[in-house]
Amino acid sequence: MGSSTIGILGTGSYAPEKILTNADLSAIVDTSDEWIFTRTGIRERHIAGDNETTSLMAAAAGRAALVDAGLTPADIDLIIVATMTPDHPMPATACFVQNHLGVSSHAACFDLNAACSGFLYALDTAWAMLGSGRYRHALVIGAEKMSTVLDWTDRTTCVLFGDGAGAVVLGPSRGTAEILGAKLYAEGTHARLLWIPNGGSNAPVPAPGTHFPPRTLTMKGREIFKIAVREMEDAAREILEQHQMSAANIACVIPHQANLRIIDVIAQSLELPLERFFVNLERYGNTSAASIPLALDEARRSGRIKPGDTTLFVAFGAGLTYGSALVRW
Ligand code: UT7
Repeated sequence: MGSSTIGILGTGSYAPEKILTNADLSAIVDTSDEWIFTRTGIRERHIAGDNETTSLMAAAAGRAALVDAGLTPADIDLIIVATMTPDHPMPATACFVQNHLGVSSHAACFDLNAACSGFLYALDTAWAMLGSGRYRHALVIGAEKMSTVLDWTDRTTCVLFGDGAGAVVLGPSRGTAEILGAKLYAEGTHARLLWIPNGGSNAPVPAPGTHFPPRTLTMKGREIFKIAVREMEDAAREILEQHQMSAANIACVIPHQANLRIIDVIAQSLELPLERFFVNLERYGNTSAASIPLALDEARRSGRIKPGDTTLFVAFGAGLTYGSALVRW
């Protein structure tokens, strides 16, 4: 475990202006608002503009989190961007974020790819780095431009995702919002259930004059659904057990926002009312690594999290990665 004196000092989020509704989607692929809403709980999602990069969205969320924390870019000495849709294969999107925000060259900046669990992976990593005493303030950002890796002719995937970013500032706790624990997992045996087969070094080099196959996401949705439910339940139960808590001690669960039916099953298995879960996926869809920090920021700003509350974050994603974290506000 990392230091128990590291806290969340501020939160921020950003969503692109453009909204794509289920009705809009039904003009693109053979689908309907009724199918999408009843199967997922999603009504609409935000879609980034052509020039609206992952790093620009990440920087906007980071800037808001810094203001919330009452800090400036000069205070930051670590930036971790969790993303599976970096601006470029290299360098890290975090370096572009550093530039956008004017963070000093003394900061360490890197990306981390754990797909939809990315924010929890980045949070735990930053917590450990700050706990070592060698870094003081971290910007931990989940940011995704999922619209660039979707096959817009595939109705089984393109209706599910959206673009956006969420960020937290971590630093020495001010007596509130302490990270109590985090636990990460992965089941690489399921790596090909949800993946982008092309675009990496394992894709064959195309013959001269031909193009790389498209870098789009493919998924076995039904299989993922079942595994996701089991993994999120396990991650939630284990961290509660580790901290001698029961689900009843949790004032607010902030789950990865993939599908309302998944959240519903988890609520039932933890014997918590659905109202105990903060859900905003009807307006954002699945924003992958951005989903938990974006929901967290909305939950805080809407007064859903009160001083003294314990919140549980729980996520799953491609890999298949999964994990959980506990924060006492
Ligand atoms: O962050 C991780 C991201 N991944 C996930 O969260 C995936 C988890 N899985 C799911 O959320 C669900 O499995 C889906 C929402 C992807 C699909 O829901 P489902 O209830 O498992 O549907 P299904 O895949 O079993 O498909 C049922 C039917 C099929 O038609 P037939 O074979 O019964 O005739 C599909 O072709 O629904 C059809 N279908 C659609 N119909 C209208 C699939 N996508 C659509 C669509 N619009 N967009």
